[in-house]
Amino acid sequence: MEKLHINLDEKSYDIFIERGVFEEAGKYISEVYKKKKIVVVTDTNVDKLYGDQLLKTLEMSGYTPVKVVFEAGEENKNFETLTEVYEKIIDSEIKRGDLLIAFGGGVVGDLAGFAASTIYRGIDFIQIPTTLLAQVDSSVGGKVAVDTRRGKNLVGSFYQPKMVIIDPDLLKTLDEREIRSGMAEVIKYGAIYDNEFFEYLLGKEGLKDSMVDIEKIIKKCCEIKAKIVEIDELDMGIRMILNFGHTLGHAIEKYYDYTKYTHGEAISIGMYEITRLGEKLGITNAGESKKIKEILTKYGLPIEDRVEIKDLIEIMKTDKKNISGILNFIFLSEIGKVDIKKVAEEEIANKLLK
Ligand code: GLY
Repeated sequence: MEKLHINLDEKSYDIFIERGVFEEAGKYISEVYKKKKIVVVTDTNVDKLYGDQLLKTLEMSGYTPVKVVFEAGEENKNFETLTEVYEKIIDSEIKRGDLLIAFGGGVVGDLAGFAASTIYRGIDFIQIPTTLLAQVDSSVGGKVAVDTRRGKNLVGSFYQPKMVIIDPDLLKTLDEREIRSGMAEVIKYGAIYDNEFFEYLLGKEGLKDSMVDIEKIIKKCCEIKAKIVEIDELDMGIRMILNFGHTLGHAIEKYYDYTKYTHGEAISIGMYEITRLGEKLGITNAGESKKIKEILTKYGLPIEDRVEIKDLIEIMKTDKKNISGILNFIFLSEIGKVDIKKVAEEEIANKLLK
């Protein structure tokens, strides 16, 4: 059993990573939760595949779980769904002091985590992520949010889970495009923090080969993320490096109204483009974009799109990471090392269009 600890003083928690750990979720949960009632919040996709199984394992550990299911899809990560989820939780007589489990991919983790952070002014919650993207990124670190019509994740909070339970076997039912998409976040960790990990991923034959070692790969990503979050829980400094490729990536996603690319595909393009730009500006060592291109291509991820950078600039100005007119662009100085550059709105056009 791989167990990581994320040290955030009284908000510290463990991350358990192992194939099959899902079957024993109740046993692990009993380490942090001694009462009986649990609400499992999940979406229709995950419920169909694993909903009953989770309830059964919780019952076997002596819990009395109830399930709240909402319609799957990023388009449902909104206030309407959130209100429905709140009301179902209240109707199922979950009270302050009871536990919520966010069981699903990024959308579920974000929405259910936000519900946990706000219902009754906050109840404890545990993350059981079911997609690669959620297992390596969104379930760890306490960012929870919902979207509004103005953009993604614009309303949210930092609210740490009491535990994260990661079972790589749950990935078996994911389609390949979603796994590849998660790999973009995996590659990101190597690019921003760990050249050796980057080279290891580059040395793999491709996705199939990496899936054999996925447990180890997930652990590496969570280790890196834990280190970063321990230093900067509230995303005011080093945590921003996790947004490598995201400022451009988010803009590309939004430009196509979230229909053309998955999140991972869009940040894949973002990572390549920002590295090319970094080289052009003399921030990134020459030759690094070639390596980024090689690795992303190896994992079947896109690296380019015909959208013009000038069309992305207006979108970037509304990015929530835009703090009082300043955007932080995460450049690589070299693979494994980053350089955060603050760019004022008025400079964006000059800098990025040259
Ligand atoms: N997904 C980026 C972060 O957690 O900060």
